Amino acid sequence: MSYLNYDMNSIAAIALLILYFLALIGPAFAAQRFIVPWDTNKFGPDGPWQAVRITLGGDDKSKFIETQNVTQISAYPGGSWTSITFKKSACTEYPNTLCGVGGTWDPDPDQLDRQHIFYSPSWENKASGFYANDSRIVALGLTIGTTTVWNASLGSCSTGSITYPNGKVGGVPLGILALGAEDTKQTFTIRDTVGSAIFAALFPGQLYKDNAIPSYSYGLHIGSAAFDYPGSLAFGGYNKGRVIGPVVSFQNASTVDLLDIGIGVEAGASPFPFDKKDKLLSPGQSKVNPDPTAPYLSLPGETCDDLAKILPVTYDQSLKYYLWNVDDPLFTKIVSSPAYLSFTFPPGPGGSDNVIIKVPFALLNLTLERPITDIPKQYFPCVPYGDSPVLGRAFLQAAFLGRNWNAKTSWLAQAPGPGTARVGLGDQYTDISDGETLIEGYKGSDYFNQSWSGHWSIIQDYGTNETQQDKPNNNPHNPPSKGLSKAAKAGISVGAALGATLLLGVLAFYWRNRAARKKARVQELETRSQAVPYDQNGPPNYYPSQGKAYFNASSPRYELPDMGAQTVEIPDTSTSGARHLQ
Ligand SMILES: *[C@@H]1O[C@H](CO)[C@@H](O)[C@H](O)[C@H]1NC(C)=O
Ligand SMILES: *[C@@H]1O[C@H](CO)[C@@H](O)[C@H](O)[C@H]1NC(C)=O
Ligand SMILES: *[C@@H]1O[C@H](CO)[C@@H](O)[C@H](O)[C@H]1NC(C)=O
Ligand SMILES: *[C@@H]1O[C@H](CO)[C@@H](O)[C@H](O)[C@H]1NC(C)=O
Ligand SMILES: *[C@@H]1O[C@H](CO)[C@@H](O)[C@H](O)[C@H]1NC(C)=O
Repeated sequence: MSYLNYDMNSIAAIALLILYFLALIGPAFAAQRFIVPWDTNKFGPDGPWQAVRITLGGDDKSKFIETQNVTQISAYPGGSWTSITFKKSACTEYPNTLCGVGGTWDPDPDQLDRQHIFYSPSWENKASGFYANDSRIVALGLTIGTTTVWNASLGSCSTGSITYPNGKVGGVPLGILALGAEDTKQTFTIRDTVGSAIFAALFPGQLYKDNAIPSYSYGLHIGSAAFDYPGSLAFGGYNKGRVIGPVVSFQNASTVDLLDIGIGVEAGASPFPFDKKDKLLSPGQSKVNPDPTAPYLSLPGETCDDLAKILPVTYDQSLKYYLWNVDDPLFTKIVSSPAYLSFTFPPGPGGSDNVIIKVPFALLNLTLERPITDIPKQYFPCVPYGDSPVLGRAFLQAAFLGRNWNAKTSWLAQAPGPGTARVGLGDQYTDISDGETLIEGYKGSDYFNQSWSGHWSIIQDYGTNETQQDKPNNNPHNPPSKGLSKAAKAGISVGAALGATLLLGVLAFYWRNRAARKKARVQELETRSQAVPYDQNGPPNYYPSQGKAYFNASSPRYELPDMGAQTVEIPDTSTSGARHLQ
């Protein structure tokens, strides 16, 4: 009897030791969401907007990235496939504008010499007037924080422009950090060189393949530059403190149903002669594209006109923007009140009520600068647009946008206001698991109101101009700490008991299963991206329209049907594959 007791004790002791060891090294190998840092600068000329910080260049894995010739720039997060950057020369045509304010990048000539991809796509985004060409795709280092993805797919452009609504053309202020795609990488094949292909990685795709993040996904809230409310971007997870449920979900990243647009007031009296107005989306329900690389609410002209009839704005015929009548007392009253523009989407999975995302007018007091206007002007960002509507950054200041590429699911939800600490409801980065199609937000009707209190003034009565400054909430919305830590605690106490050995077995089983599922998913993606055969009789075709498809999912014309088309062939027979064909 006594020897048995002794044995059980030692088993428990060993199990405890193993558990302790696992707890120590666990975080080192467990896949966790990756958090992207933001720049503190604000960017125009139609913002202010915020952007993320990334480092470009480097191709030697054996050396520290800082010792290689690299450049740090700011870029707008958004779009898919290739990240787009601009060379210094792209700005020579556009002096005294905001061209290149986020930084330009001239790839190191030595690093370029070692490149074998000669593919020159162009990109356009009609909603933002963005056009980029004279590009070259390079597979070089892309570093975010302290993590480098080598051979990342980077478009380096010598020419780029933004055409503003009135036809004025300026240089491109910032490049674009792509957020992933239907594949984890892009494939470039060399003509006549059987079996030879060059891969260029997509940043979150590579992290996922490397098991550094739990899923091929992102969660984005761009925040508000005017309110000093920083953005939030994670790969393989999202910041729950930026999501107020219910969450809308949809499959096609560039298509979500918009049911209506309205005007409402969150608290107190209305600055308008009505409390609420609906049916402002003409001609009714529409498919819209939420696009963080585009600035405006690009909506049917009739919708902008209808809104303009209600708001103290004037359509400037030469600028082709709606300018706020800043001298009208109603302007100040509206943009400092709890009044908002509402966007109605269909119910999320399991829900029965439509989902309404409210964009306070406080976020729609944006500024035009050079090269659009010589003197800064406040504008209302509704821009008449003939194509399918685009909800750009003006909207996304108040909305969370996420996507799980493998699960083919995108999410849209109300984002909170700045809160007292300007961190929304408080940072709460949460993993998105592989294959996940649902994410959670804070549930409760008052989170939105609370997160804005202190930033807007409640109007007490109709007809009076008296406003009462809403008392700043001293209680920062410290969200209850998540169940995870409770679960972890429970795990530890179970481990302390004799069940430890059993738990280890379960854990091992779980990890093995997870790894197998993951492997299958990567394999599936890879099969889908097999090279398409090169047409021997065809011209040395670089699929010129294809490059547009990477970025401009908003323009149906350029959307490609399947992944095979993402393979680009380089018609070159030399072994190095290094010959320019243009
Ligand atoms: C880094 O690359 C730039 C880009 O052209 C080049 O002008 C510069 O000489 C390079 N610097 C070093 C230290 O190699
Ligand atoms: C980039 O890809 C090429 C092959 O396409 C490979 O030879 C090279 O080692 C890769 N570089 C790094 C740093 O992984
Ligand atoms: C509108 O925005 C401008 C620029 O950010 C700011 O100076 C101004 O105070 C804002 N107006 C109101 C009424 O909030
Ligand atoms: C919104 O918050 C304010 C305090 O900031 C409060 O007075 C008001 O009752 C709240 N309104 C709603 C609808 O919760
Ligand atoms: C996504 O929606 C766009 C615009 O409606 C459409 O052109 C495109 O074909 C769709 N993509 C897929 C993969 O269904």
